[in-house]
Amino acid sequence: MEITKAIIPVAGLGTRLLPTTKAIPKEMLPVGRYPIIHHVVEELIGAGLSRLLFVTSRAKLAIENHFDDYSELMLHLELDGSEMKEVSRFDYRKRGVEFFFTRQQVPLGQTKPLGTGDAVAAAENFTDGAPFVVAFGDSIIRSAEPAPLLRRMIASHLAHDSACTIAVYEVPPELTHHYGIVVPVPAEAGATDCQLAGILEKPAPDLAPSRLAVSARYVFGPQIFDAIRAIPPSPSGEIYLTDAILHLIRQGQMVRALRLTPGEQRCDIGNHRAYFQTFIDYALADPQLGPELLAYLRQVLSRCPGAGGQTAP
Ligand code: UTP
Repeated sequence: MEITKAIIPVAGLGTRLLPTTKAIPKEMLPVGRYPIIHHVVEELIGAGLSRLLFVTSRAKLAIENHFDDYSELMLHLELDGSEMKEVSRFDYRKRGVEFFFTRQQVPLGQTKPLGTGDAVAAAENFTDGAPFVVAFGDSIIRSAEPAPLLRRMIASHLAHDSACTIAVYEVPPELTHHYGIVVPVPAEAGATDCQLAGILEKPAPDLAPSRLAVSARYVFGPQIFDAIRAIPPSPSGEIYLTDAILHLIRQGQMVRALRLTPGEQRCDIGNHRAYFQTFIDYALADPQLGPELLAYLRQVLSRCPGAGGQTAP
């Protein structure tokens, strides 16, 4: 069996990046030369996924426009004699990639969409009973090769006939309360691909069962939809994907986690600190402008007190 479909939830409000995200979707913020969602889509294509569904909202039309055909722009650049190498990569139809869009509705009387579990539920018809990938639109898995993590996840998912396969990475102990943290079965605790006995949403450091944090990439079987229907909303009214995954584990279904390797880095932009760091990482890696930016940063640092430089007068 082959997995060809992916769901990309992009319907969140992005409140942690206000005021920028009042009118601009978080997923359209640039990371280096591309909006973050562009990096996510390239990662999915690199893993062999060709039918991509965005779970979106009325505030996110810029995402649809970004992936739409723009033949007059292409023609303009061609007539202009511009360098087409980069822009021609946007011609997804030629690359055999299809985009689909559906809306996650905000229920009457609510002020926000009901969370990532609800976003995935909106894609049930699209998946048509087959396994599929979920990739959050505000996180990139950075690596030198194209999408090695997703490729390993898909291979593991199919080999173990799993109901769910999650990407995880190790976080410092004091940060566990920001993430979903997984509990490997004791016999496989040190393995890079391990079965899970549990998963907890944002545990305090002293209650965290491990330091392995869920990392924005999943492979699911169709069982996830019944699990999402079965779980109650959290006290804040959200339907957490984590709770649905815990439900699968409690039902005795095979749920596994794959660790990121040292060559893979999770970069997200969910808050300003993470966004600034991710932008700098990507800008520094830019083949043309990275070295210049590095020289500039060195100059800035040399003027910073406490960084080995002189205090500005
Ligand atoms: P986040 O929880 O990080 O995004 O979801 P958010 O809700 O937009 O962030 P804040 O807390 O308000 O700042 C991760 C991904 O899932 C999408 C988001 O758009 C983001 O890409 N998402 C989140 C949905 O599609 N629907 C939701 O109900 C929640």
